[in-house]
Amino acid sequence: MEEQQQELPTTTVTVNKGGSLRVIGPFTLHHADGRIEVKEKASFCRCGQTKNPPFCDSTHKTIGWEAEEAQS
Ligand code: FES
Repeated sequence: MEEQQQELPTTTVTVNKGGSLRVIGPFTLHHADGRIEVKEKASFCRCGQTKNPPFCDSTHKTIGWEAEEAQS
């Protein structure tokens, strides 16, 4: 039996402390309105206050938002 090699994932998701969710690597984004985008990287809002959903626009910095992990 031939040994199978597993490929490592090419997409990385990072929870930025006190900020966005950063995705780096090829991925497909399915918007709520039906649009589909293929992207290489993006930062997604976790605070819920962005003016450009679902992306982070750095509003979290101006409103003093704290992520749950920063509150413990
Ligand atoms: S996390 Fe950056 S605007 Fe919400």
